[in-house]
Amino acid sequence: MHIDFAGYSDLEKLLEIEEQTFDADSYPLSRRNFLYHIKKKHILVVRVDNRVVGYLLFFTYKKSWRIYSIAVAEGFRRKGLGRSLINRLREDAGGKAGYLLLEVKTDNTQALHLYALIGFKPLKILKNYYPDGDGIKMVLEI
Ligand SMILES: CC(C)(COP(=O)(O)OP(=O)(O)OC[C@H]1O[C@@H](n2cnc3c(N)ncnc32)[C@H](O)[C@@H]1OP(=O)(O)O)[C@@H](O)C(=O)NCCC(=O)NCCS
Repeated sequence: MHIDFAGYSDLEKLLEIEEQTFDADSYPLSRRNFLYHIKKKHILVVRVDNRVVGYLLFFTYKKSWRIYSIAVAEGFRRKGLGRSLINRLREDAGGKAGYLLLEVKTDNTQALHLYALIGFKPLKILKNYYPDGDGIKMVLEI
């Protein structure tokens, strides 16, 4: 397993993971979105045997860094890869930001379990944040 920034050659694999993971209601990232964020170095990818099997998209602000999206390809889940992506971001943010922020759907149990395990705490409920439900804003102090 290896984590680094996404490059342009990772684009097709990122789109494949996105398509597998998020349906149209979840606003999947487009080819154009991915190209922009690859250029900006906003995407960490996890590789297994040199194949991209997951990614994390983040934004940096003055005091906080925000996880916008995270996905691990279906056959590679529950192997600690999602956790490793977030831990890598936490390390990178150390000394640069005070906390990590994210939003998650209230019924996304797999993601909620992962975030709680890492130490994220619920900050507030976001009513109707998603087209089909509420969200929770979570925070992790670095
Ligand atoms: C959320 C997601 C990124 C987690 O990635 P992952 O690589 O499977 O997570 P990890 O293997 O690092 O899991 C770490 C811990 O999180 C918890 N967890 C992860 N998936 C879980 C599940 N399906 N059920 C219960 N707990 C789960 C467990 O505590 C797990 O540790 P364990 O396997 O030792 O018990 C992955 O499930 C995914 O891509 N989901 C679809 C996309 C999504 O919902 N993204 C988040 C919103 S943008």
